[in-house]
Amino acid sequence: MALTKRIFEGKTLGILTGGGDTPALNASIEAIKSRASVLGYKVYGIRKGWKGLLGDGDIVDLSLQPYDGSYGGTALRSSRTNPFGVSDNSRVAEIMRNLKRYKIDVLVTIGGDDTNGAAKKLYEQEGIPVIGFPKTIDNDLKTKTIHNYNGQLIEGVVCPGFPSAAKGVAEFTNRLATTAESHSRIIVLEVMGRDAGWLTGAAMMGGAEVSLIPEIPITKEKKEEFFDKVSEAYQRSKKHYLIVAVSEGTRWYQEKLDKVDVVYASSEVDEYGHPRFGGISGVIASEIEKKVGIQARAQNVGYYARSGECRNYDKKFVGVLADKVVDLLLREDYGRMPVMSKLSTFQEIEEYHMDTIDMGKIGNQPLPFEYFDKKEFHFNESYIDFLSYFIEKPKSIRFDYNFPQVKPMF
Ligand code: F6P
Repeated sequence: MALTKRIFEGKTLGILTGGGDTPALNASIEAIKSRASVLGYKVYGIRKGWKGLLGDGDIVDLSLQPYDGSYGGTALRSSRTNPFGVSDNSRVAEIMRNLKRYKIDVLVTIGGDDTNGAAKKLYEQEGIPVIGFPKTIDNDLKTKTIHNYNGQLIEGVVCPGFPSAAKGVAEFTNRLATTAESHSRIIVLEVMGRDAGWLTGAAMMGGAEVSLIPEIPITKEKKEEFFDKVSEAYQRSKKHYLIVAVSEGTRWYQEKLDKVDVVYASSEVDEYGHPRFGGISGVIASEIEKKVGIQARAQNVGYYARSGECRNYDKKFVGVLADKVVDLLLREDYGRMPVMSKLSTFQEIEEYHMDTIDMGKIGNQPLPFEYFDKKEFHFNESYIDFLSYFIEKPKSIRFDYNFPQVKPMF
């Protein structure tokens, strides 16, 4: 018997992206869209996150459009709009009205804790069928991904966007070596990641020797230990330069405030109540220069990590997660999000390690203590092993010189 009708023909699936962009967002949209189309769904894109469901709505039809998933960021655009508003629930009625007006039957929300947490609340309160899809360069969503490191089971995380961003951080750090070396300097490199140190660890793959992460607060006493380690690492380095990677969310003892705190880029908070971090590298570089007596400069990886093309690992990863979305759609099992349950040594079998979790209980996952040596201010080998599932060490351009010193003639 010939197939004449597909299972969800006549139904519409809407996709939105919320929160900070990542290099894997378009790839995720493409992967979900193509699978949903095969199931018969008409696929709509909701522009600018939840904002696209407010007012008159801002919806586009993706069904028959070609879609380039290699191009980073999100062609649907993103925002940090909270569907519950800041002070009341008035936006919920607008969202419900628009879902009806546009006849959207199922919503796939690509986002982090905030976007997916809000989606789950809408599902519970209003009965909107939702499926979550993970994304973050910070890699701080509790996906419960088990990393088997020589028999030691560590609860890791892997979210689409992180592998591409980590590769960017490693590359950026690797490039800094030549300029740090030319001036025999210490470069303090600030890395995004909000309250978690996952992304900062990628700088170690690029040659950073010392690191600070938000999980380890740097008290007045701990600061002295840190300066000693910086000095030691600099003296030990064959070529007399050093790269120190610091998380933007590092909690650092600040003399003027007489307290341990993060450095804020501004006093604003977004609609989910998150402040903006930024500037810690400048503070630490100037303190290193005073304390250690070596010229230090601050640098920020910034959006270099978040922007640019989707790398190979992410491309494949979002595909296997999107297959799990198909599973959820077919079972009409809403309020859940696909995740990878354990890291596979062989990429060919990764798809068998996909699972789903309740998207209302994602929560944040800091860097596990197994990955960081807080005495040495250094990521452990176990973390390098973790990263090596997604990225390779960048090739360092080596130039080993040892020019003979010339003595004056008189
Ligand atoms: O959550 C992703 C992230 O890139 C964080 O690492 C960073 O703190 C924040 O977003 C920056 O957001 P924005 O670009 O909106 O300032």
